Amino acid sequence: MRLAVFVSGNGSNLQCIIDAVQQKMLNEITIDVVIADRDCFAIQRAEQAGIEVMLVTRKSNWADEIYATLKSKQISHIVLAGFLSILNNTICEEWKNKIINLHPSLLPKYGGKGMYGLKVHQEVIKNKETQSGATVHYVTEGVDEGNILMQKTCSVDLNETPDSLQKKVHLLEKEILIESIKVLYAKAQGAD
Ligand code: GAR
Repeated sequence: MRLAVFVSGNGSNLQCIIDAVQQKMLNEITIDVVIADRDCFAIQRAEQAGIEVMLVTRKSNWADEIYATLKSKQISHIVLAGFLSILNNTICEEWKNKIINLHPSLLPKYGGKGMYGLKVHQEVIKNKETQSGATVHYVTEGVDEGNILMQKTCSVDLNETPDSLQKKVHLLEKEILIESIKVLYAKAQGAD
């Protein structure tokens, strides 16, 4: 499996995939390119691991540039790991059921445009939810709308803060991200 990982921020989930590949927890899987839509720490993580980075600015033809790179690198699967831009329909269609996104809530709750990072956790606490969690879902053109592949839940405690909830959810994200990549691999082998 040849992965492209898309990032916009810290890249802790990218790091988790890099570590899993290096520790041979993900066999026959390579990260062939990391694509960032802005300057961010994730780029340093990729470079540190010797992975090629493509930094795209959101000019009019950015989707064409991404598409060409994915094709030229024969990318089989795409992971959106904290990527805050929206992929265009051509890419969603071409890699249908082969693109996954990580989201820091129990979708379909607290998803959609503008719902990312701490904002998600602030809303969860404001609404007095007793549970939250992380979701990996297949990517379609609609934001956070594709079928859910995996979810894990955690409690939202009485004295929870957005920061403390984010820490809990981050731990869950890393578990379901690696498990989801294994599911994609199994499907690619025809074992589903
Ligand atoms: C993660 O919490 C991920 O779920 C979230 O961005 C963070 C990226 O962290 N994604 C979204 O909110 C997408 N709507 P990272 O850069 O450390 O991997």
